Amino acid sequence: MFMHAGKPMRGQPQPTRAVVAGLPQLQVSRHPVVAHKLTILRDMTTDSATFRHAMTDLTVCLAYEALAEMRPTPTRVQTPLEETDGTMLGERFAIVPILRAGLGMVDGFLTLFPSLQVWHIGLYRDEASLQPVTYYNRLPGLATVDTCFVLDPMLATGGSAVTAIAILKEWGARSISYVGIIAAPYGVQRLVDAHPDVSIHVAALDRALNEDGYIVPGLGDAGDRLYRTSGDLPPAANHRE
Ligand code: PRP
Ligand code: URA
Repeated sequence: MFMHAGKPMRGQPQPTRAVVAGLPQLQVSRHPVVAHKLTILRDMTTDSATFRHAMTDLTVCLAYEALAEMRPTPTRVQTPLEETDGTMLGERFAIVPILRAGLGMVDGFLTLFPSLQVWHIGLYRDEASLQPVTYYNRLPGLATVDTCFVLDPMLATGGSAVTAIAILKEWGARSISYVGIIAAPYGVQRLVDAHPDVSIHVAALDRALNEDGYIVPGLGDAGDRLYRTSGDLPPAANHRE
């Protein structure tokens, strides 16, 4: 594969949206609340506080949709009036944010299930080669859950997601789902090819990757927008908050 110096995606063939949209592993939300929150994230004038809130709100919605895969377990419950049938989520699950930007999705899951186990994998992609570099792994000693939800807002080339999921599988995870915000067709195809058993839940399937490997139209650099690590971001809404 020839890679152009400084423009790692130049000349790389990319599948179209139409090609990957029908893959059974891919679930793109159709909910208008998701679309609303996503539009706030895409807007380059959104300040970081609003960006963080919108990512949390959006993740609550995506978690709700992704957790529809979970098996309900029948139970009995005592109301103030009588005993009746109920169901609880019987499967044990953990969330695995990919540092850094995946941290922006943690609170969305914790809003629904505050006692979840949270495990961390640290990866960044080298800007020149777009290859993922692993720098942190804080998985517990034993696989103590049935399902792991890998969280990362951006599925671009797919390198980070493929690597994180390979780490989880090698460690012993049995069932894995990926929850993200925006996916590029290239990343979806790569993730499905590498891990066909992993379901992919996202808010949007965007058009393509640009020559630098950024998703277009996308939302820019998710980590920089969350953590204010770029010089050309909108000013904070209120420096005295
Ligand atoms: C971003 C994003 C993903 C990765 C996606 O992280 O959060 O982890 O890029 O790109 P890929 O699909 O081509 O691998 P980044 O490397 O910018 O690190 P950060 O989260 O620390 O900002
Ligand atoms: N990582 C991001 O944060 N944004 C992109 O568009 C691609 C990778």
